[in-house]
Amino acid sequence: MSETATPAQTSPTQEADITSALGRRSVVLVGMMGAGKSTIGRRLAVRLHLPFLDADVEIEAAHAGVTIPEIFATHGEPYFRDGEARVIARLLDGGPAVIATGGGAFMREETRNRIRDKAVSIWLKADVDIIMKRVKRRADRPLLQTEDPTATVSRLLEAREPVYRTADLTIASRDVPHDRIVDECIDALRARLCPGAPPAQPTTDGISVTP
Ligand code: S3P
Repeated sequence: MSETATPAQTSPTQEADITSALGRRSVVLVGMMGAGKSTIGRRLAVRLHLPFLDADVEIEAAHAGVTIPEIFATHGEPYFRDGEARVIARLLDGGPAVIATGGGAFMREETRNRIRDKAVSIWLKADVDIIMKRVKRRADRPLLQTEDPTATVSRLLEAREPVYRTADLTIASRDVPHDRIVDECIDALRARLCPGAPPAQPTTDGISVTP
């Protein structure tokens, strides 16, 4: 995804409407590795004036800075998943915040139920090509240390998409400026959380106004 920033397309009032409707609830980003959960989440948090929390970073912090690949290597995936579920439960209890979850977190029913109770979830939906383009830049995903990472991603997507689809909102993650995806998240959150509010209308200078 391009790093180019474009002017915000939504008005501050819309963001305020969303945070007030959220109350103590958080916004939780779910989806595959490389979908942009951390990048979009960080920007969304700035726009909503909420703290940004990255579950992967919090898991490492809870293990005294031991990295996720090291946790996988030393203790195995089930141990990592238990820790991940506990960390996400704690983050949800501390809301409101924008929380980026690791790609496997939403697969756990107990975590999905907690997210349903304490947050609004957004699935950042990305296809295999986009995911591969992005995950190639880093070698820190233990699940992708396989002979054929593209086949692994396709297999994971097939298993996970039916579950990701149960998120409250879905936004297509693609190669457009990050701020455009953030704008789409804001619009979708507002439509869901503030159903009576009039839709934002784009003006000729690209700034949205709420009539
Ligand atoms: C995982 C995704 C990673 C990390 C771990 C497992 C997964 O997070 O939690 O490597 O199962 O998809 P990102 O989605 O932030 O890369």
